[in-house]
Amino acid sequence: MMRLLASAHPVHHIVIPMTLSKALLAQLLGLIIAISLIPLLPMKFSGLVTFLILQSSCAMLSSILLRQPRWWLPIHLVFLPCATTLLSLQLAAHWYLLIFIVLTLVFWGTIKGDVPLFLSSTAVVEAVSQVITQESAQHFAELGAGIGTVTVPLAQQHPQLIINAWEKAPIPWVINIWRSRHYANSHCYRSNLWSCDFSQYDVIFVFLSPAVMPELGVKLRSTMRPGSLLISSSFAIPDWKPETIKQVNDMAKTQLFCYRIADTNE
Ligand SMILES: C[S@@+](CC[C@H](N)C(=O)[O-])C[C@H]1O[C@@H](n2cnc3c(N)ncnc32)[C@H](O)[C@@H]1O
Repeated sequence: MMRLLASAHPVHHIVIPMTLSKALLAQLLGLIIAISLIPLLPMKFSGLVTFLILQSSCAMLSSILLRQPRWWLPIHLVFLPCATTLLSLQLAAHWYLLIFIVLTLVFWGTIKGDVPLFLSSTAVVEAVSQVITQESAQHFAELGAGIGTVTVPLAQQHPQLIINAWEKAPIPWVINIWRSRHYANSHCYRSNLWSCDFSQYDVIFVFLSPAVMPELGVKLRSTMRPGSLLISSSFAIPDWKPETIKQVNDMAKTQLFCYRIADTNE
């Protein structure tokens, strides 16, 4: 039964239009509120900068009220100010097309509800490296590996460790492959993490989002090998009891939730 649940991931089919419409609605609400408030402000505050601050703040607030995942907040904060700045530069049309294509290739599935690219800190990599040593791990996987912030230093520090990484977004994947080129023990696949088999790994690392954790928990509990370890950076899996929570001393005060996979037959 657990395996059946794991193979289906209906959340993604539902969130595709939902994520996009909520993001657009938050931006639109930000615009409407900013346009309504600007005439009420004193003359000296009626400029473009005030308008942009108002719009992006209101878009962020709307995003919270619409219960979008937290990582949408910085996107709403910078969206209109960046778009306005780019337009004011009056670049040739092909530059705008190029910027659009590059952003699409970096934030590939974000519009459909996938987690965008955020990077782990060096302190997180060190903490994961210590766990790998403690566990005497031989096979390590990272789901959503970005540009190799975690896998590249691990491949260097643990030459005996076999590292498999999955990354869906094309540009981060290419950068990951390029950065891993000297490490024969590390390989990054351009594939959806939901279609992978995790049974061969001693340690799996993820840094994704609270939105996917419940579904990921179902998938990993049924496919990871009993006794193996899951490390989730920043986001806990609801209803799972971590074996340890490692507090990392970085700027974000990251917590690493370490879960030991139990035998489902127990
Ligand atoms: C928060 S970033 C973490 C990057 C990297 N793991 C790190 O710690 O620095 C999440 C990454 O997961 C990737 N991602 C999101 N959903 C994915 C999916 N369904 N399959 C594969 N990769 C995915 C994103 O493209 C992004 O690069």
